[in-house]
Formats: sequence, structure tokens, C-alpha cells
Amino acid sequence: MRTTSSPRGATWLTALFAAAACLLPAANAQGYAIDTTDNIRASAKTLAFDLMKFYNGNQSGQIPGILPGPPSDGKGDYYWWEGGALMGTMIDYWHLTGDTTYNDVITQGILHQVGDNRDFQPLNFTASLGNDDQGFWGMTAMLAAENKFPNPPADQPQWLALAQAVWATQAAPDRHDDTCNGGLRWQIPPTNNGYDYKNTIANAIFFNMGARLARYTRNDTYATWATKQFQWIYDVNYIDHDSWKVYDGGHVEHNCTDINKAQFSYSAAILVQGAAFMYNYTEGDAATQDMWKTRIEKLTEGLFRDFFPKGIAFELACEGRQGACTPDMVSFKGYVHRWMAMVTQIAPFTRDTILPVLKTSAEAAAKQCTGGATGRVCGFYWSGGVFVDPAVDKTTGAGEAMDVLAAVSSLLIDEADPPVTNTTGGTSKGDPNAGTGSRHATEPAKPITTADKAGAAMCTILLIAGGIAIWIFMNLGD
Ligand SMILES: *[C@@H]1O[C@H](CO)[C@@H](O)[C@H](O)[C@H]1NC(C)=O
Ligand SMILES: *[C@@H]1O[C@H](CO)[C@@H](O)[C@H](O)[C@H]1NC(C)=O
Ligand SMILES: *[C@@H]1O[C@H](CO)[C@@H](O)[C@H](O)[C@H]1NC(C)=O
Ligand SMILES: *[C@@H]1O[C@H](CO)[C@@H](O)[C@H](O)[C@H]1NC(C)=O
Ligand SMILES: *[C@@H]1O[C@H](CO)[C@@H](O)[C@H](O)[C@H]1NC(C)=O
Ligand SMILES: *[C@@H]1O[C@H](CO)[C@@H](O)[C@H](O)[C@H]1NC(C)=O
Repeated sequence: MRTTSSPRGATWLTALFAAAACLLPAANAQGYAIDTTDNIRASAKTLAFDLMKFYNGNQSGQIPGILPGPPSDGKGDYYWWEGGALMGTMIDYWHLTGDTTYNDVITQGILHQVGDNRDFQPLNFTASLGNDDQGFWGMTAMLAAENKFPNPPADQPQWLALAQAVWATQAAPDRHDDTCNGGLRWQIPPTNNGYDYKNTIANAIFFNMGARLARYTRNDTYATWATKQFQWIYDVNYIDHDSWKVYDGGHVEHNCTDINKAQFSYSAAILVQGAAFMYNYTEGDAATQDMWKTRIEKLTEGLFRDFFPKGIAFELACEGRQGACTPDMVSFKGYVHRWMAMVTQIAPFTRDTILPVLKTSAEAAAKQCTGGATGRVCGFYWSGGVFVDPAVDKTTGAGEAMDVLAAVSSLLIDEADPPVTNTTGGTSKGDPNAGTGSRHATEPAKPITTADKAGAAMCTILLIAGGIAIWIFMNLGD
């Protein structure tokens, strides 16, 4: 068990959040109520409100689409990709609850990050541009098309075309080579650290998007790629052939045999979801569909065995060790809940296995949201049953808040429409050529100008001054 951080931290947080706290009724000391549909909706609304307090992208002078960051520039806890993940979470929130409050802010955020070639490779973030990072934004665009999130104005990039663009850049020959018999590398620019690593999540997202584009468009090219991509992940032993554990990746220097056996929940869950899309797409071809069914079953069994002991989400690679979870890792539980909920719609045979687990997990998630000045801030340690301040993992709490919103709102999955396709109500305009003429992000990030440096220095000075002020305040406060 972790201990909570010093309660003194609450003194100045109280001042900051007191005003916001007055706007909405506080949850009771037992955490959020999720016993009825109405309570789930009301709880989700407050959770969404609190989550969006972390998002400043629609304020003057801020960058739309991203959470405060990236850490490498000292601007906050969050890498570029997590903004895309936030946008996806909020698209699901709207889809599940019908609350349109944040739709315009979300649309603005996504469209701001599409980059010059409308393929989610904005130059600003080249230094942390992995196939998985780009892929997270691509999956958010795909979700917008599948959920029928309101289409952008006609002169703006469209959801389906954006997803196709990301997929096409990742299917292009310059992303593929013969090392390890195939597979995508983690990073896109060869100069980035991690270009020599071929990891599961990057390949699993490319697989997932291929499966979804196949189902949406019924263009078999996507399905062929998805099938090949899954097979590669399996053949290179990133999926254990006995236990169906899903490992992290390996290096090209070692032909990907130096497998890093760290297991992350989202890698397993994204594979289950992609397999479910393939299962749904291959209806009518019994043998192929059966193969995907087995993969769904084995991977789900492994996911629940390793990441849901006691039926409650647990981030195996880091959760048992104090401070071992990074801001990235603390956001994975939410994706797992959202993706597995969607699996029950497109592969309904999984419903009775999956929904009870998501429910016990969501109950534990909601119960521990009793922290902070509002009395409803959420932590990451759901199994413990008590709030643990996100400060123990050195985060400000956006991932933790996203996780609980996802877990709670996904309880409404049975009342939500399943993901549409081109022939079942989808209206997003596609473009099979999107992304094919893209400049690939292989150039180094734009050079840092003197003005940038001066700005950064000023920020550093302000941050240090602010830090000292808070330190003095906190120490005098007692
Ligand atoms: C930003 O979005 C929030 C909703 O999250 C809204 O309340 C606020 O008015 C918006 N601010 C601006 C400057 O548009
Ligand atoms: C890139 O950075 C500039 C300067 O901070 C900012 O104005 C712009 O919005 C950023 N673009 C993206 C896509 O984030
Ligand atoms: C690399 O591993 C693959 C299996 O993933 C194998 O087929 C191939 O022969 C290996 N190549 C070398 C050079 O060892
Ligand atoms: C495919 O998905 C739809 C929901 O869009 C669902 O109704 C149908 O049962 C699924 N097909 C199979 C074979 O499970
Ligand atoms: C469905 O896809 C076809 C072929 O790409 C396209 O012509 C048609 O406009 C699409 N339908 C909708 C509703 O977008
Ligand atoms: C199917 O998708 C592939 C890959 O994007 C594309 O090259 C091809 O033109 C598409 N076919 C049709 C009929 O749209």
C-alpha cells in the first residue's frame, strides 16, 4: 500500500479549487454513486468536468489539443499523445451520455493537431513522434467516425480521412524493413531514441486501425494488413504462445529476440479490440472468424488474469511499487475499460465474460474518488479502496481522472449504439488516398530559435520562483 502525500499540500490546493468546487455538488465521502443509470450519468458529468479542468487548450495563449507538456520541454507531465487519448475519452463520454458540453472544444483540439499533411504528424512534436503516438490520434479520429461524432465543417479534415491518413503513413514502405522479419519500429524519425525498438503497442495500434478501417469501409486491403500485422506480433513472440501474456517489445540489433517482458494492460486490450473488429468483419467465413474468436478469448483470459486480480484494474508493471508508474502508465486503465466495453458490442458473445469485470472494477474506481479539497479527486490505486494522492506518482492527476471517467461512463455501454460503418449510418467522408503523399516525419524537429530559448528561460525562472513561493507558503502555513 502507498501512503498519501503530506496533507499540507491541501492548504494551497484548497485555495485554487474552492471556487470550482462550489459549481457542482460534491460527491459523498464514499466516492461516486453508480448504482443506477441516473447516478452513473450524474457521476460521469462531474468526473468529466473535473477531468477537463486539466485541459487548458482552449484558453488564450494555450495550444489546442494537448495536455500541459511535454515533460521533455519542462512544460508539464503529459506527452503529445495523451492529448489524443483525452480527446478519444471525451468522444466516448459524449457517445455514452449524450452530454454535448465539450464537443466543440474537442473538435477544435483534434483539428489543431492534424499537422500540415493532415496525418497527425505536427512538426512541434517530432521529438516524441512514435508510431504509437501518431496512432493514438488516429484511433481517436476513427472513433469519431464510428461514434458519429459531429463532422467538422467541409473545408476541414474529416474523421475517416484522418484515420485513413494515419494508417496509410504507417503502411508506407519507409515504415517497414526486414529486421525482425517485419513490423513497425517504435519511433518514426530515425534520429529519435527508440528507433531501434520494435514494440507491441505501435504494431498493435496499426493492427487495430486496419481492422476497424476494414469493417468501416469493407475495403479488404486493410484486413489483409491487419491479419499480417497480428501474425507478426505473434510470430515474434511478443504474445506468449502458452500464456497469451503480451510483452512490450525487442530491439532490431537482436532480431527482436531480446524481449522486454514488461506487460502493460493497454497492449493486451488493444489487441482484443482489434481482434473483435476482425471477428465482426469476417462474419460469413466461419474458419477465419473462428480464429479471431479464439484470439479474443485467449487474450481476454490473459488480460483479466494478469490485470484484473479481484476483478479490479491493476497496472501490473508498476502498480505494486511506489512511484513506479509514469504519467503514461497511469492512464492505461481507462483505455482498457473503454476498449473492452466496445468489444462487447461488436463481439456480443463476450458480453457475459467482460461486463461483470468492468462493473466490479468501475465500482472500485468510483469508490476511491474522495480526495483533494473537493472531496472527489480520484487516485490510481483502485484495489486499495482508499484515495491515494496522484502526487505519489509525481503526476497532477489527469490520467487518474481520465481512467475513472472511462470506467464509470463505459457502464452505459448497453444503451449506446455500436460503432457504425459506411453502410450502417456512418457519415464521415473518407479518402483512400489520404496520407499517401505525406512528407514523412523523418526530418529533425525545427531548430530552436533564440526567441524560443528566451521564452523557455523566462518560463524556468517563473517556475522556480513559483516553486519557492509555494514551498515557503506551505512551510509557513503550518
Ligand atoms: C474552454 O472550455 C470550457 C469547457 O471545458 C468552457 O467552460 C470555457 O468557457 C472554454 N474557454 C474558452 C476561452 O473558450
Ligand atoms: C506549435 O507550436 C506553436 C508555438 O508554440 C503553437 O503556436 C502551435 O499551435 C503549435 N502547433 C501545434 C500543432 O501544436
Ligand atoms: C529473425 O527472427 C525471425 C523470427 O522472428 C526468423 O524467421 C529469422 O530467421 C531471424 N533472422 C535472423 C537473421 O536470425
Ligand atoms: C457485429 O457487430 C454488430 C454491431 O454493429 C453486432 O450486432 C453483430 O452481432 C456483430 N457480429 C457478430 C458476428 O458478432
Ligand atoms: C461509402 O463508401 C463508398 C465507397 O467508398 C462511398 O462512395 C460512399 O459515399 C460512402 N457512403 C457514405 C455514407 O459515406
Ligand atoms: C482500399 O484501400 C487501399 C489502401 O488505402 C487503397 O489503396 C485502395 O484504393 C482502396 N480501394 C478502394 C476500392 O477504395
